[in-house]
Amino acid sequence: MVTSRKWERFADQRVREIKRRVKDGRAINALSGGVDSSVVTILGHRALGKQLRTVWIDTGQMREGEEERVVATFKKLGVPVKVVRASSRFFKALKGAADPEKKRKKFRDTFYKVLGDEVRKWKAEFLLQGTIKADVLETKRGVKTQHNILEQIGLDPQKGYGFFVIEPIKSLFKPEVREVARALGLPEEISQAMPFPGPGLATRVVGEATPRRVEIVRKACAIVEKETKRFRPFQAFAVSLTDRATGLGPKGRREFGEIVVVRSVESKDAMTASVTKLPWPALMRIQRRICEEIPSVTKVLYDITPKPPSTIEYV
Ligand code: XMP
Repeated sequence: MVTSRKWERFADQRVREIKRRVKDGRAINALSGGVDSSVVTILGHRALGKQLRTVWIDTGQMREGEEERVVATFKKLGVPVKVVRASSRFFKALKGAADPEKKRKKFRDTFYKVLGDEVRKWKAEFLLQGTIKADVLETKRGVKTQHNILEQIGLDPQKGYGFFVIEPIKSLFKPEVREVARALGLPEEISQAMPFPGPGLATRVVGEATPRRVEIVRKACAIVEKETKRFRPFQAFAVSLTDRATGLGPKGRREFGEIVVVRSVESKDAMTASVTKLPWPALMRIQRRICEEIPSVTKVLYDITPKPPSTIEYV
């Protein structure tokens, strides 16, 4: 109770700060449906109402059913969400990019170009962003390029692409963001949502993220999420590798097929992670479903590496 009041106060304070900065101007924010951007969306709407436009950018890298889920959830919360179709722009930008950092940068640049177009359309002077402390720390340490760190593009974070940036939850780690989400009355599917990387499924395809490979990983991720849901892992997903492996196709013919890795980890703040000890029957069911529902897959592996030495994602 005491903690929930603490986070209610935090939320009220951030709402007041947003109001104070934006005054009667216009703001925009990109919602993915994860806990960070959802919290910022609600704070922004409480502070600004119709002065805030919330967009959901279809990057082509989102999970199965994500668009419908996000739009419907926020409709129930009284927040209209504008869907921006941009998947072909993202796939065009990602074409030929196999290196992880190159992919992250291409994704980030495209993201801000698409968002920049929306800023101009809405004539927004402010951008609300859901950057959290882990994003800042991992970027500073050079662990990886987080797609939502404007400083990296060599832009003054206060001047950006011609708009001012407001980052209301930059001082928080993920568990604290979840507390704020609860204090704001967001449904559990959001407050407890598994973290999902900004660059989306492109980070779960090793090598070039082509539409075909992203589709494979989208299907595999949906299977892994569904089959592990009752174990409540911190994060569970599938990854497509560039390597191939021989397997037996439907008619017993030898095929050189795709390899999918299943990863499930436990963590508090994503800075370190241990591997989920998934029950064997659950792993077997995941393997069966992946091979049956995605026939081009001939091998399913389970990743047993903690962070460190590994990272949670593959790219
Ligand atoms: P790693 O792979 O570095 O990931 O162990 C740590 C946590 O961050 C998520 N992640 C991202 N989140 N933008 C984000 O908003 C990104 O570019 C990004 N990359 C990784 C990852 O899913 C894990 O929870």
